[in-house]
Amino acid sequence: MKVLVIGGGAREHALCRSLSLDPDVTAVHCAPGNAGIGEIAELHPVDALDGAAVTRLAQELDAGLVVVGPEAPLVAGVADAVRAAGIPCFGPSREAARLEGSKAFAKDVMAAAGVPTARSYVCTTPEEIDEALDAFGAPYVVKDDGLAAGKGVVVTHDLAAAREHAIACGRVVIEEYLDGPEVSLFAITDGETVLPLTPAQDFKRALDGDEGPNTGGMGAYSPLPWADPQLVDEVMATVLQPTVDELRRRGTPFSGLLYAGLAITSRGVRVIEFNARFGDPETQVVLARLLTPLAGVLRNAAVGALGDEPPLRWSEEAAVTVVVASHNYPDAPRTGDPIEGLDEVAAKDAPRAYVLHAGTRRDGDTVVSAGGRVLSVTATGEDLRQARERAYEAIGRIRLDGSHHRTDIARKAAENSAVGEAAGDAQAAGV
Ligand code: AMP
Ligand code: GLY
Repeated sequence: MKVLVIGGGAREHALCRSLSLDPDVTAVHCAPGNAGIGEIAELHPVDALDGAAVTRLAQELDAGLVVVGPEAPLVAGVADAVRAAGIPCFGPSREAARLEGSKAFAKDVMAAAGVPTARSYVCTTPEEIDEALDAFGAPYVVKDDGLAAGKGVVVTHDLAAAREHAIACGRVVIEEYLDGPEVSLFAITDGETVLPLTPAQDFKRALDGDEGPNTGGMGAYSPLPWADPQLVDEVMATVLQPTVDELRRRGTPFSGLLYAGLAITSRGVRVIEFNARFGDPETQVVLARLLTPLAGVLRNAAVGALGDEPPLRWSEEAAVTVVVASHNYPDAPRTGDPIEGLDEVAAKDAPRAYVLHAGTRRDGDTVVSAGGRVLSVTATGEDLRQARERAYEAIGRIRLDGSHHRTDIARKAAENSAVGEAAGDAQAAGV
């Protein structure tokens, strides 16, 4: 089977890598891709947001499966266009992708499905905003209603800053602050059957110690040694299956990847957000541990045949990914800087550590930065400690002027996992 992947970030690089390792896949194509994806897939300069152009490309290639990576093409209806031409497509319809595209819609679905989440108000006027901020108190959680690449959320003790962001958003969701460690749990679904993946943890803030502004994600690890072994079953029963059932009941079934961003609070699991696609950078560590060949599962989801799929198989190994971001990310990232040392990682660290490209492009013989998040350096190991060591060793070989990365990805979990396992809770692990 030939597969066409839409997008061009590290998540799509990870998807293309796993697909290219699947014996049932004869060729991987990607549009538009990036410099790293170009080494394992054929790239096509097609606009990812143009459903007609993506469909034409899939037809020309005779693709047996199209996988849509990012949220923007999903919300623009690219999966609808591909499916309308009779080509199996992994990714939800425009209507179902509103679960990510509108925070207010997601809250409505959760309320109808009885899914536990933060109490919230949708506000459009300064009066409503002040009332909501006052009702919840600090820390304030203020979310732009629309798509904002993970950057539309402000969590702050500063009332004036919360108010300013809320007013700038126009339509805004203001909600109760959720305390406790965060978990990202993905599920593959055909709109009816739900197949959970393995949980991961993302690091959203730009700087070590969870300081600095929110970003798209600066690193991730899996598994979570501190998490309750029942967590996946619980989230399946209370979050994932009810949400999929509710969207089917509404006549807009969700088929594709349902991403639940969760807070493990003292009062139980709560949904922080839904996304309608694989998370980035969590996908890099989740797919690093997946043993089941990926293409067949995604295709079965796309054609409504997940019912016969056995549970996914996972490696016992741990995986860690660390994002290398460009100068000034997330504010005004600088691009066009040459990246050196990639060959050295390939020669010395592969296959235990490898570089997945996010914002990169080829400029003659050099690879240069072309976005805010530039690389996602991923490693596997016997445990988190070893995976982390390998990831940071590989990062040490890479030179990108002005770049920054967090040095504490998976550190607490790696240091405390023995304590966390013994005590059986997240608080002991301090994550
Ligand atoms: P979101 O885009 O909704 O995932 O929000 C981005 C990040 O803001 C989350 O990963 C959390 O770290 C934080 N956040 C969002 N909502 C809440 C909340 N209700 N309580 C605490 N932190 C939150
Ligand atoms: N890592 C967070 C996201 O993909 O939205």
